[in-house]
Amino acid sequence: MYFRLAENSKMVTMATMKKPLLEAVKGKRQKRPPIWIMRQAGRYLPEYREIRERAGSFLDLCYNPRLAAEVSLQPLKRFDLDGAILFSDILVVPDALGQRVEFVQGDGPVLPPIDQEGIARLETDLFLARLSPVLETIALIKSRLEADKTLIGFCGSPWTVATYMIAGKGSTDQAKARLFALRKPALFAELMNILVQASISYLVAQLRAGADVVQLFESWALNLDEKCFRSYVIGPNTKVVEGVRAAVPDAAIIGFPRGAAGMLGEYGRETGVNMMGIDYATPVSFAVDALPEDMGVQGNLDPLRLVAGGAQLERRVEEVILGFSERPHVFNLGHGIVPETPIAHVSSLVEAVRGA
Ligand code: CP3
Repeated sequence: MYFRLAENSKMVTMATMKKPLLEAVKGKRQKRPPIWIMRQAGRYLPEYREIRERAGSFLDLCYNPRLAAEVSLQPLKRFDLDGAILFSDILVVPDALGQRVEFVQGDGPVLPPIDQEGIARLETDLFLARLSPVLETIALIKSRLEADKTLIGFCGSPWTVATYMIAGKGSTDQAKARLFALRKPALFAELMNILVQASISYLVAQLRAGADVVQLFESWALNLDEKCFRSYVIGPNTKVVEGVRAAVPDAAIIGFPRGAAGMLGEYGRETGVNMMGIDYATPVSFAVDALPEDMGVQGNLDPLRLVAGGAQLERRVEEVILGFSERPHVFNLGHGIVPETPIAHVSSLVEAVRGA
C-alpha cells in the first residue's frame, strides 16, 4: 500500500512538474534563464564522435532511432541543461521528398541541384512515412527525459531548405537560390509551397510524437533585401506557424531567422512565433527595442566566445542576461556550437547561467 502511494505521488509530480524552458517559450519569465545550446549534440563531444563512427553515414545516424536518441541525450548527461534537441538535420526534408542528400566528410551536404523536372518529381506522398524513424527517435527521447526537461523538435524553414535544394550544397551568399527565385518566380513559388506543406506536416507529427517545443531554423535569412525577406522568409514562416497551430493550437514555436537584422521586428510581429532566436551580430538592445514588449527571446552569445572562454565569456554572459532580463529569456548561443569548443568551457557557461 505504502509502495503504491509513493508510486502515485511520483506520478503526480511527474505530470505536474513544470518545464522551465517550455514555460519561458510560452511567455512566462523565469527566475533565471533556462539554457540549451544550438547543435549541443555534435562533434565537440568525444562520445558523439564515437557513436558517429559506429553508425555509418551521418544520415544513417539520423535515421537510427536508438542511436539518434542516445546522441540527443548525451549533452544532458554531461551538462545541467534544460532541454534536449532531437538529433537529426534540416536536410532530412529534401531527402524524404526524394531529393537524396549525401554528407561528404569535410565538404558538408551535397544533393543533385533541383530544376523544373526535379520539383515535379518530389514525392510528397511518401514524405512522412520516410521520416517515421525520426518520429520514433522523438518518442524514445521523451520516454527517457526527466519531467522538468523540454524536448525540442525542429525543421529548417522553407527558404533555408530551398537554398540547399536549388544550389545542391551550402554557399555563403545563396546566389543560386536568390537568382532562381528572381528569374523563375512561379517555379520557385511551387517549390516553396511544397516545403511549407511538408514542414507543417513534419512539425505537427513531431509535436504529436512528444516534442514540447519546435524551432524553425532560418539559418540563411541574411543576404535578402526587404521585399525578398518578406516574400521568402516572413510569408512562408507565417504559413508554417498557422498550419501547425491549425492542428496543434497551443504549439510552442521558436523562430530563428539568422541575419534578419533590420527585419527582426517585422518577423517577430508577423509570423506568430512565441519566441525569437537572436543571432550574435544583433545587438541585445536592438532586439529589445525592435520586438513586441512581451515577446520572449533566445540567445545570443557568440559561439567563438565559448571557444575562447575565460573572463570575457563570463562578462558577456552577464551582459546578455541583464540585457534580456525584462522579458522571457532562454539562454543560448547566437548560432550553433563549433566542434573546437572545449568541454570545460561549456560546463563553465552552464554554471554561470545557473548562478545568474
Ligand atoms: O544538436 C543539435 O542541435 C541537433 C542536431 C542538428 C544538426 N544539424 C546535426 C548535424 C541540427 C538542429 C542541425 C540543423 C542544421 N543542419 C542547420 C541549421 C542550424 C545552423 O547551424 O545553421 C543547417 C544549416 C544544417 C545543414 C548542415 N548539416 C550542414 C551545412 C552540415 C555540414 C556542416 C557541419 O556543421 O558539419 C550539417 C552536418 C551536421 N548536422 C552535423 C551535425 C552534428 C555534422 C556532421 C557529422 O557529424 O558528420
